[in-house]
Amino acid sequence: MTLLVIHAAAPGSMTVDGEADDASFTAGAAPQSAPFPGRAATGDSGPAGSGSAGSATPGSARVLLRSCDPAVIGDALAARGIGFERWPAATALAADASAEEIMAAYAPEIERVQALGNYPTVDAIRLTPDHPDHQALRRKFLAEHTHSEDEVRFFVEGRGLFCLHLGDEVLQLLCERNDWIAVPAGTRHWFDMGPEPQFCALRFFENPEGWVARFSGDRIAERYPLLDALLAETGV
Ligand SMILES: [Fe+2]
Repeated sequence: MTLLVIHAAAPGSMTVDGEADDASFTAGAAPQSAPFPGRAATGDSGPAGSGSAGSATPGSARVLLRSCDPAVIGDALAARGIGFERWPAATALAADASAEEIMAAYAPEIERVQALGNYPTVDAIRLTPDHPDHQALRRKFLAEHTHSEDEVRFFVEGRGLFCLHLGDEVLQLLCERNDWIAVPAGTRHWFDMGPEPQFCALRFFENPEGWVARFSGDRIAERYPLLDALLAETGV
C-alpha cells in the first residue's frame, strides 16, 4: 500500500565533518559517514509511529499528514511540485518479467510521458536481496543528495521509500507497484530500498550519463525512519 507521511523538518541539520552544504560527491563516492542501518538505536527513528504534535527537535518532528489514499497523496505531492500517478497494470506481470516485457506492458503510459519530450531514455532496474552489492547500493542513496536531472521512477514490483526534503518539510513516500513518481532536478532527497531490497522499477532519463548524485553533506536523513522502521511503525 502506498503511504505518504509529511513531517515538519526538524531543525539542527548537521553537516558531515563540517563540510558546506554544497559539498558534492559523485554517485560512486558517498560520504564515509553516510547513514546506515547500524546507526544509533535511539533517537533516530523519527516520529512516524506517534503522529502526535510536539516540538521539532531531532527525532521528534511533527507529522503534518499521513495518508494511504492515492488521491490525497497525489494532491499533496502536486501542491509541492512532485509528480505522482498510479498506473495500474493492465495485465499481470511475471516476477521474472524482462525489461522488454515490462516496457511493453506499460507502453501506453511510457509513450504518454515521453510525448512530453523530457525523458527520451527508459530502462529497467531490478534489485533483490541476493544481489551481491545490494548493501553498498542501499548505502549510496541513503544520504541526502540532489541530481541535475529529474529522478523519475515507475515501480513495477516491490517497494522503495523516497524521502524529499522540501524547505521546512520532509516527505516520505513509500512507493509500491504501479506508483510513478517524478522528483524535479535539484530536489534534496534520499532513497531507501530496505535491508532486503525487492523492487523493479522503470527509470526515465533525460541523459543517463549525466545522472549522478551530489551529496549535500546534511545528515538530516538520519533523523527519519528507514523503510523497515516505517513499515513496522505504520503496519502498512
Ligand atoms: Fe536520487
